[in-house]
This record gives sequence, structure tokens and C-alpha cells, in this order.
Amino acid sequence: MDELSALAARVWGELAQAVSTRGHPWRTATLATVSPEGLPDARTVVLREWDEREQTLVFFTDARSPKVQHLQHLQHQAQAVLVLWHPGLGWQLRMTVRTEVTFEGLAVTSRWARLKMSPAAQDYLSPLAPGESLQGLSPAGASRPHFAVVHARVLALDWLSLNPEGHRRARLCPPERAAWLQP
Ligand SMILES: Cc1cc2nc3c(=O)[nH]c(=O)nc-3n(C[C@H](O)[C@H](O)[C@H](O)COP(=O)(O)O)c2cc1C
Repeated sequence: MDELSALAARVWGELAQAVSTRGHPWRTATLATVSPEGLPDARTVVLREWDEREQTLVFFTDARSPKVQHLQHLQHQAQAVLVLWHPGLGWQLRMTVRTEVTFEGLAVTSRWARLKMSPAAQDYLSPLAPGESLQGLSPAGASRPHFAVVHARVLALDWLSLNPEGHRRARLCPPERAAWLQP
């Protein structure tokens, strides 16, 4: 195995750790999107699953949230960027991903069945959509779940390592274009 493939394997291993370890710095990622009006936006999401074979991450969201509209805008081809920073390793990952938002079916019901037992279920039960004004509204009870599952397949991955002895940077994905880069 060459050095770049070995590094990629370490990154995939760290992602697998991240999604199953509370407090792991890569469990939360910054997701950057472009709105239908062409404006940039970014927010934090929790990475829930990593499938190495499919090179796919999974996060959950409110089906009514603006980010879902950003991801479903045809012109953007469902693409987004996930940025992760690990202070311990000194590693940044910048991943261009192609997303697929799923609102129903087994992929959603199986995950909701697990999540609904946890306090996080409240995040998906508000009668108001994320970002809606609370002004003038009386508190309402829980509504039906507005739960969506987002699969994010890694199309490109840029790895940056900050080190006092010298920074290093590599393109690890797509594998056929793997290369060391000037940081
Ligand atoms: C630590 C942390 C974790 C979060 N995790 C999620 C998440 O997994 N999914 C999600 O939709 N929003 C999550 N949020 C909230 C989003 O960052 C964002 O505020 C909200 O989803 C509305 O985003 P939007 O208006 O861009 O759609 C999280 C926020 C924080 C601070």
C-alpha cells in the first residue's frame, strides 16, 4: 500500500470512530450549501453513520429546513461541502459531497424508530419549521415528525495536516486522482 492509500485508510478509520463516539471532533461537521438564490450558507450537523464501501456519510435533519431546499435545488446537483477539523490530529477534511434526501421508506422509519426514544426526537416534532418566527405564537403541542435522512456521498476529499514541522496536504478522493498538494 502506498503512503496516500495508507493515509486514506486512516481517514476512513477516523470517520468510522467519529460517527460512533460522542465528543469526537469529527462527529459534528460544518455543512456548506448554496441557496436557490445563489447565496452561501453553512451550519453544523451531527454525522451519524459512515459507510466506507459506499464512501457515504449520513446525517439527519428537519424535512422542512432551508438546507433541504438548498440540497434539492436542481442547478446545484445536490452538491454540498462538509468541513471537519480535528484539533488533536491537526487534520482538516474538506469534502465535496453529493446528497440524497429521503423523507419516507425503510431508510427513514428504521432510523426514526431508534431516534424517537431519545431526547433528540424533539428536534423533529416542532409544529414550526426551523427558522420560523416565534413572534405572536402561542405554544403548541408536538406535531407529527418532520424527519429526513440525508446520505452524502464523498466525491472529492481534501486533507490538510497542520504541523509545526511542516504542513501537508493531499487529495485523497477520487482515488484515481489522489496526489500530494502544496498546502
Ligand atoms: C452541535 C450542533 C449540532 C447540530 N446538528 C444538527 C443536525 O444533525 N441536523 C440538523 O438539521 N441541524 C443540526 N443543528 C442545527 C443546525 O446547525 C441549523 O441551525 C439548523 O438545522 C437550521 O439550518 P438551516 O436553516 O440551514 O436548514 C446542529 C447545531 C449544532 C450547534
